[in-house]
Amino acid sequence: MSPKSSSHFPSDDSDYLSGFGNNLSSEAIAGALPHGQNSPLVCPLGLYAEQISGTSFTAPRKLNQRSWLYRIKPSVTHEPFKPRVPKHDKLVSEFSQVNSAVNPTQIRWKPVDIPEEPTDFVDGLYSVCGAGSSFLRHGFAIHMYTANKSMDNCAFCNADGDFLIVPQKGRLWITTECGKLQVCPGEIVILPQGFRFSVDLPDGPSRGYVAEVFGTHFQLPDLGPIGANGLASARDFLSPKASFERESRPGYTIIQKFGGELFTAKQDFSPFNVVAWHGNYVPYKYDLSKFCPYNTVLVDHGDPSINTVLTAPTDKPGVALLDFVIFPPRWLVAEHTFRPPYYHRNCMSEFMGLIHGGYEAKADGFLPGGASLHSCMTPHGPDTKTYEATIAQGNDAAPHRIRDTMAFMFESCLMPRICPWALESPSVDHDYYQCWIGLKSHFINTAENTGLQNNGCTDAE
Ligand SMILES: [Fe+2]
Repeated sequence: MSPKSSSHFPSDDSDYLSGFGNNLSSEAIAGALPHGQNSPLVCPLGLYAEQISGTSFTAPRKLNQRSWLYRIKPSVTHEPFKPRVPKHDKLVSEFSQVNSAVNPTQIRWKPVDIPEEPTDFVDGLYSVCGAGSSFLRHGFAIHMYTANKSMDNCAFCNADGDFLIVPQKGRLWITTECGKLQVCPGEIVILPQGFRFSVDLPDGPSRGYVAEVFGTHFQLPDLGPIGANGLASARDFLSPKASFERESRPGYTIIQKFGGELFTAKQDFSPFNVVAWHGNYVPYKYDLSKFCPYNTVLVDHGDPSINTVLTAPTDKPGVALLDFVIFPPRWLVAEHTFRPPYYHRNCMSEFMGLIHGGYEAKADGFLPGGASLHSCMTPHGPDTKTYEATIAQGNDAAPHRIRDTMAFMFESCLMPRICPWALESPSVDHDYYQCWIGLKSHFINTAENTGLQNNGCTDAE
């Protein structure tokens, strides 16, 4: 691909459209959008009208998502899809005993090395774990990517679900049918199901995390008693403005992920030929530093749900197919309280990653670019060093500001199966369990000291 200057990829917030779930509209050429209807007999500028639906046509209005794209040639103008050669054998969209395993052990991965050989975003993407099925429209997959080169004369389209990408190293310059986005580490981007996009890597070696959800879309969490403001603000979500390529692109390849398998189709033009669009089904990004965290101000550690940025819901109220939760810089002020996360077992499963800095519950071993998986009902919590250091501070700990960190969690109600290459990866930290083995008993048996034993029964007389 020819080198692109940064001027093609907007860096200023004002270069984007602001809002979450809004009905937006954008014209790269004034007058390109039809007025009064979506599909005129002849569209302005001779463009083709094309709808992309993110929900079924009959979804309730408050959930319905679709956009109208006005493009130089319609997406259908391509040769038949064929299985991609070479096959990509590390993408899973239907987790089963055939392609993945279950393992309740706490698992931690060290950062995976970025390959030396030329690798683009698609080839560098690999599934780690997940549950459910894209075919049945219920489930999720967690992927990671390590890559070092831009996609060349091709675009990716994920028919299976929405991608939530968390770059950890290296910026992403993402061209979409709705326009261009620059996404830096510390930001996230959502690429909804079906949108064609291409990823350039201006910084070369790049690494990151991807959550994929099947059959639903991310939404802002309800705020309940917090009120009308706080956590992620709708106005801080940014969508691209329309931009288009009109040049002929012989041999251009559309790579379609469909049921976890890759297919390719040739066409002679860029899919990024949308001159104008309107609707509420669009790619968007969010800068995690804009998150407004809430926290306990007297006692006890809040549940991590207080830091939910986005949630992909299930049909059960309050039960997420996948929550995206962050642990940003913030003050810890709780009195006579164990301030790090408490020890716990969770009916949900938790995959964590670290973008930069450290994580408050792990003194060492959990590194930027690494990951951990604590599955359903598997116990976890602070490591021994963190516990002992916290207790040593006693009750007089002053307010403390956690600085220079950004950890996150993908949390799901489904039980993840793990891909074999992730379980067998040389990055697996086989000593992870050791971080808790040193936790010693601090039990003071007062009954023993006084000669009293309580058998749990109450004497009748
Ligand atoms: Fe947890």
